[in-house]
Parts: sequence; structure tokens; C-alpha cells
Amino acid sequence: MSAKSPRESETATVSEPVEVAKVGDMAVGQGRTCALADGRSIALFRTEAGFFAIDNDCRHRGGPLGEGFLEGPVVTCPWHGWRFDVTTGVSPDDPAACVASHPVTVVGDSVRVEIR
Ligand code: FES
Repeated sequence: MSAKSPRESETATVSEPVEVAKVGDMAVGQGRTCALADGRSIALFRTEAGFFAIDNDCRHRGGPLGEGFLEGPVVTCPWHGWRFDVTTGVSPDDPAACVASHPVTVVGDSVRVEIR
């Protein structure tokens, strides 16, 4: 008998990639909230390094991170200013205050996210 490692459990819940935008829909430095078919939403960002997706709900009080201000790889929540690195989901101010990040792939003009 062996228990699943946290990594195995995490991998088991990753969905098939779903298209959330087209490459041409977003300029570098932009973010947006993307509604998913299951009712959840994610925050999608385009940085100089490419596209990144994190949970849309801020860990403070649920503010919409997709509507936040993006500066480099860091988004600032529009409600009270908590900050998160969109490439990792980790707050540069408090590493314990992180949101989930989701893998993004670009296939042609299609921006696809695997939801964890
Ligand atoms: S809800 Fe995001 S900082 Fe308060």
C-alpha cells in the first residue's frame, strides 16, 4: 500500500486544455477574466514572457485578479492591492498567500489552459 504523493494527486486532477482566448485578443501587459464552462473563472495574462493563468479569486477577499493591474509578471488585485506573480501564483509580499497557477499552451492562434 502506498499513498499518492501531493504531486501525483495534483496531476490526477488536471483537465484537458481548454481554449480561453486567441493570441491576437490580448496585447503584452494585459489581463482578463475567462469564464469556464463549469462556472469557475481563471485570470489570464500576457507578459513579455508569454501567457500565464492563475485562479481569478484573490486570496484576500476574492477580488477579480483578471481585472488587476499588471506590471511585469506581477498583478495587483483591484480591490485592496495584494500582489501575485502571475508566472507562479505566489505573492512577492507573502509567499504563504498564493493562488493556484495553471499551465498554458499556445497552439497556433489558440491559447489553452489546463485547469487544476
Ligand atoms: S480582495 Fe484582493 S486584495 Fe483584497
